[in-house]
Amino acid sequence: MPPEVLSCTAPTPGAGHLENLPERPLDKRELQELVDALATRPELWRQHVAFSDEQRHYASLYRDEYVDVWLLCWTPQNDTGWHDHDVSSGAVRVVAGALEENNPRIGGVHVQTVMPEGVSFSFGPDHIHRLVGAADASVSIHAYSPPLWRLGQYTIDDDGLMRRMSVSYADELRPLDTGA
Ligand SMILES: [Fe+2]
Repeated sequence: MPPEVLSCTAPTPGAGHLENLPERPLDKRELQELVDALATRPELWRQHVAFSDEQRHYASLYRDEYVDVWLLCWTPQNDTGWHDHDVSSGAVRVVAGALEENNPRIGGVHVQTVMPEGVSFSFGPDHIHRLVGAADASVSIHAYSPPLWRLGQYTIDDDGLMRRMSVSYADELRPLDTGA
């Protein structure tokens, strides 16, 4: 059994278009359609919105054999650190405020993209990123398939050496160092 998820509320059965999901893993496009659809139904998630500078607030909206869906709430102090999603593809929809996505560039300046409310994006298991709240009271919906189980959390030390640590999906991702 996975560790209990911090700040997690009970999954909402039948949320959004979740009642019509195929009984197989979803691809990136399907995940993006799912988070876009859920964005139009705030009655399914707005009751879970809460913010904390110390600990990023999140709630599980749905989880089955093929997909899991999360609501995440951000302040500018909330920072995931560099991570991947192991074997999962994912999609993110910003439903309030803005998120900043960073992608690591070895030997160069990291890619930095600000995603305002209304923007969604998707990615495959090859994707490495770091998400930070880019505005007060930001909210996003995330879907992963297959459901998150393990994640890779990266550290970059002062010499630029990058290391990967496998962590449980239920461990809150936060920077493990102050590396660039
Ligand atoms: Fe992520």
